[in-house]
Amino acid sequence: MHKHGVQFSYLSQEDLIDTGCFDLRMAIEVAEKAMLAYEQDKILFPEKIVQIFNQATQERINCLPATLLDEKICGVKWVSVFPRNPEKYAEQNLSALFVLSEIEKGFPIAVMDGTLASNMRVAAMGAIAAKYLAKKESEIIGFIGGGEQAKMHFLAMRVVRPAIKECRIADKSVEAEQEFIDHLSPLFPDVNFIATHTHAKAAIEGADILVTATSAQAPLLKAAWMKAGAFYSHIGGWEDEYEVAQQCEKIVCDDWSTVTHRGQTLSRMYAEGILSSKDIYADLHELVSKLKVGRETDDERIYFNAVGLAYIDVAIALAMYNRAHSSHAGQTLSLQDCMIFEHSDIAQKVRL
Ligand SMILES: NC(=O)c1ccc[n+]([C@@H]2O[C@H](COP(=O)([O-])OP(=O)(O)OC[C@H]3O[C@@H](n4cnc5c(N)ncnc54)[C@H](O)[C@@H]3O)[C@@H](O)[C@H]2O)c1
Repeated sequence: MHKHGVQFSYLSQEDLIDTGCFDLRMAIEVAEKAMLAYEQDKILFPEKIVQIFNQATQERINCLPATLLDEKICGVKWVSVFPRNPEKYAEQNLSALFVLSEIEKGFPIAVMDGTLASNMRVAAMGAIAAKYLAKKESEIIGFIGGGEQAKMHFLAMRVVRPAIKECRIADKSVEAEQEFIDHLSPLFPDVNFIATHTHAKAAIEGADILVTATSAQAPLLKAAWMKAGAFYSHIGGWEDEYEVAQQCEKIVCDDWSTVTHRGQTLSRMYAEGILSSKDIYADLHELVSKLKVGRETDDERIYFNAVGLAYIDVAIALAMYNRAHSSHAGQTLSLQDCMIFEHSDIAQKVRL
């Protein structure tokens, strides 16, 4: 290679999966470590850039940068959310890619699939919250919404709550419920998966852990269904009636200040003056660093809302890159062979 050549790795989702990167324990560990680094000011985390193409459907492409100062890596996630894709095209809602650069010379080191890391990050954050906030002996988990986030959430929840032995699923589509079960039951033969035929109440009543992961914008989860002692992980937008949060003893967010200007249930309540900062018990990193305690009694109802923190995505993507790269996976692509005016034939090729 010419001394001014620049190369980077290209890693597809299959490259990542084949090299053992679909590893929720790794994602959980990396996310916790990144939250501690954030508390120690070792992260640069600017606002994300949002471009919404359809306000009604919230079709959007977002650009989320972050820098891990200790690791000397700057990354960006380019993520599309197209909620109508599953119904309209039988395609996934969310797709993403990452660019990772080193910050000594500022050159890119990787362009890679981001859908896997992104979905694993959402699930890892829910699982970390459950680790501190769900009852240890939680056995029943109930889902409203059975799409990609929900499936990944189940995998991560089982890492931190291995006693889970019953999983109930309520989607608006019975086909989605069946697909959820078809995808997960071979991985967990010891778990009893139950399709509720769209009955959200049947999925939730009596469950120790509740998860809503829908593309709906409606109060689907009712407060009366949430038993004392339950832990709730809220993933989508507006999915639960306000009384759910109001009856919870603790509300924890991945980052409350970010939640205040988004479209989640808690954000709506804040905008309407029903919820204020003093109602929020903690941000998740405060539980990880033990600044605050998690669950204190068996009866507490606890609400967790994550909107997504780009530095966690970048940290998980970097861990994946390191694992895949050490297995020589992917392709090495050339960004440039040399600097612009060093090309020997530049005089013939430049258009003047
Ligand atoms: N919090 C975060 O960090 C984060 C990150 C990524 C995605 N999300 C959000 O998570 C949600 C789910 O994303 P996904 O990738 O799993 O989408 P998906 O399309 O794969 O799954 C959504 C599921 O919700 C179901 N659904 C829609 N309306 C419903 C209703 N009224 N009742 C029951 N089920 C209903 C759909 O049938 C579908 O199976 C989206 O709102 C997405 O924007 C949040």
